[in-house]
Amino acid sequence: MERTVYIAGNWKMHNTVAESRVLIGDIKQHVSGLPKGVRLIVAPPFTALAIAQQEIASTPISLAAQNISYADSGAHTGEISPTMLADLGVTYAIVGHSERRHLYHEDNAMIADRVAQAIRNNITPIICVGETLPEREQGAHFSICDQQLTVALQKIQIHQMARVLIAYEPVWAIGTGKTASPHDAEEMHAHLRQSLSNISDQTTAESISILYGGSVKPDNSRELLAQKNIDGALIGGASLTAKSFIAIAENAL
Ligand code: PGA
Repeated sequence: MERTVYIAGNWKMHNTVAESRVLIGDIKQHVSGLPKGVRLIVAPPFTALAIAQQEIASTPISLAAQNISYADSGAHTGEISPTMLADLGVTYAIVGHSERRHLYHEDNAMIADRVAQAIRNNITPIICVGETLPEREQGAHFSICDQQLTVALQKIQIHQMARVLIAYEPVWAIGTGKTASPHDAEEMHAHLRQSLSNISDQTTAESISILYGGSVKPDNSRELLAQKNIDGALIGGASLTAKSFIAIAENAL
């Protein structure tokens, strides 16, 4: 099955409104030359979503938030609701990023609530899973990622699962310059697809795009993205300049 290839830029806590406008302006200049079948997503900080919405208008670029509240409204200081995000043209939300899990103590159960909330509001969750270095060294990487995946999907129905994206992001590869080898990444992606098939069914599992994240750069992206079960990339550092972000997208097919 031909799956959509997603090249998603996670800007993390970078870029003011003015800087965001410039970066999207630069990205926009190159979109027409990208291979068909590659979908670009940018995930600016919340403060830049409004300007990003204006800048991506009438382009094929989609907008993601870096998180999404599990609540609709109310006493949730510091959280952003799905209605607020939809209001700004957001159609994707990163959920369960390892920085949220490790620095802000989001657990699998909370991530499941965020996923369910995204689905209820027609926002596509980009569900991040990934093991730490000690977990990989202990040989626990498959079971850790399985557990993260299974719990994250626990509160949605099987027929809704085709509406999620998964990102495998080994924690030891994020922002470190170390990337999983194409072989190790593919092994995990194939494993996750089998797990998705066990949770839902084979057709659904075959339709879900599984992105790789962790120090993806123009010089390592081609080989990673050539793997059978790697259907895109979630990119941090290299998404902060149009040149490297676009170079990765150009190599994606
Ligand atoms: P990185 O970040 O590309 O800077 O390693 C990836 C991510 O955290 O999504």
